Amino acid sequence: MKKKALVAYFSASGTTRRAAKALAAAIGADVHEIVPAQPYSAADLDWNNRGSRSSAEMNDPAARPEIAGKVRGMDGYEVVFVGFPIWWYVAPRIVETFLESYDFSGKTVVPFATSGGSGMGGTEAVLKKCCSAQTAWLPGKMLNGRQSDKVLRTWVEGLGL
Ligand SMILES: Cc1cc2nc3c(=O)[nH]c(=O)nc-3n(C[C@H](O)[C@H](O)[C@H](O)COP(=O)(O)O)c2cc1C
Repeated sequence: MKKKALVAYFSASGTTRRAAKALAAAIGADVHEIVPAQPYSAADLDWNNRGSRSSAEMNDPAARPEIAGKVRGMDGYEVVFVGFPIWWYVAPRIVETFLESYDFSGKTVVPFATSGGSGMGGTEAVLKKCCSAQTAWLPGKMLNGRQSDKVLRTWVEGLGL
């Protein structure tokens, strides 16, 4: 890929991390982990408990969990892939925190996700609203299971990047 690209990802249990690293390696992009200021414990991730931290955050569209650290040199990236697990059919709220923390004007943003089977659903429409109108938003992709370099490169080339 000719453009300078960043693969930024949030991963609570490692699956999206693997997908993000595979994508970055396949297309020659830098990687940045979106780290929660307060890490998610197993109890926080319990979707069977309506009172768990993840349940509370996902029930509150205004929740913006704090992030530790910043992307270094965000200005230099033309394309930013944003990866996350699907939580309750959408992106975890911390992804909205991330998108609202930078000005993506003039950049291209491409979401990708992992899940237990759900697709992107309505998450792209929600995430797009976190970025300025001058952000080029490309359709996202589910990256469940092991993806070969060839599949990942073909996907990105197909986006015209
Ligand atoms: C709070 C919570 C909610 C989830 N909701 C969904 C869901 O709606 N649909 C789905 O297919 N998987 C769901 N999952 C499963 C994750 O999307 C899946 O395990 C993902 O690959 C985890 O990625 P990670 O290891 O990078 O955190 C949920 C997991 C958690 C912790």
